[in-house]
Amino acid sequence: MRILVTGGAGFIGSNFIKLYLARHPDCEIVNLDKLTYAGNLENLHDVESDERYRFVHGDICDEAVVATAMRGCDAVVNFAAETHVDRSIGDPAGFLKTDVFGVHVLLEAARAADVSRFIQISTDEVYGPTLDCAFTEEDRLNPRNPYSASKAGGELLARSYFETYDFPVIVSRGANNVGPNQYPEKVIPLFTTNAIEDLPLPLYGDGLQERDYTHVLDHCSGIELLLARGVPGEVYNVGAGNHMKNIEMTHLILEELGKPETLIKHVRDRAGHDVRYAIDATKLRRLGWEPEFGTKAAILDTVRWYVANEAWWKPLKSGEFREYYERQYRERLDEAGAA
Ligand code: NAD
Ligand code: DAU
Repeated sequence: MRILVTGGAGFIGSNFIKLYLARHPDCEIVNLDKLTYAGNLENLHDVESDERYRFVHGDICDEAVVATAMRGCDAVVNFAAETHVDRSIGDPAGFLKTDVFGVHVLLEAARAADVSRFIQISTDEVYGPTLDCAFTEEDRLNPRNPYSASKAGGELLARSYFETYDFPVIVSRGANNVGPNQYPEKVIPLFTTNAIEDLPLPLYGDGLQERDYTHVLDHCSGIELLLARGVPGEVYNVGAGNHMKNIEMTHLILEELGKPETLIKHVRDRAGHDVRYAIDATKLRRLGWEPEFGTKAAILDTVRWYVANEAWWKPLKSGEFREYYERQYRERLDEAGAA
């Protein structure tokens, strides 16, 4: 099987490519990635000379590049996206382009190439927040920020291709992933690397928001299963049920690193901050999915990876990241008296 993986230089895509190549000796993978600030070929260092792997530098919005990359592929897994909620609040346009229009370009090319499976990687954020239940795949969508609204647009378009053209689309809705190689804008790598450097941890609002911290390898094995046994036209939640409040997660990181709680700075909240995400992954479990990492294990495995891999993240925290960090946090930290 030859698979077109898009966004394979990012966090989840790179973990998926490494996992899939290791477990499927006969597969071939073409990785199409634009290499935005979040794309990093270092993540694929281990497989770059594997003859079953090929990298194509390009944009999923570019029809010609996509058609060429798609040639000879049996399946597509679309990870490519703009992914950071805070950036989508500041500047939504790029999210609409890649997360909606890019999906359209991929779907058209995949249909023309008659691929046998198209996995659209979506997110639990499309359901919006819930205080008391875990959403199933039948629940209504209620995205509340430009990122999740764009992802909802992308997955609805993908599902329309199943209904309209009988095209074999499967949608996955993943919970918050943690693990190696996540860009340090996301909360766990940001807090871990800041704590290592004795910098403040900017906790939004009261810190009582809750996420399902699912290990990236568990997410990837879910996608692997969907490629093999997912039913076309269906949607599958991918969440381990690893719930933890942000404040507890922050304490866990500090405890593991032996750093003081005085590093925690409660800063102005994210606009429209979704208080709690929760999904029910029974449908995927019925296909045979069993996550390996519990809540603490997933978070601590991540913290320890960042401790051991300073050479990976230190260079990322300069340049573009520093400009973004100043924009996103300077005023907030000043207001909180943590200059
Ligand atoms: P990431 O930001 O780490 O990586 C995104 C990758 O996509 C990068 O390599 C980037 O260069 C590439 N990319 C961006 N725009 C592109 C374009 N126009 N053309 C080609 N490549 C492009 O993202 P991630 O956290 O690995 O997320 C991957 C996918 O999983 C996304 O679709 C995201 O919505 C979804 N998801 C993420 C999480 C999470 O917790 N990180 C959870 C559920 C779902
Ligand atoms: O739920 C799946 C989603 O998880 C994915 O679709 C997104 O691509 C991914 O980025 C992630 O979105 P979140 O917004 O939940 O992740 P983030 O790491 O940005 O924030 C996690 C929680 O931590 C959230 O409640 C906001 C809070 N937070 C985040 C940052 C960056 C802070 O308190 N301070 C921060 O500086």
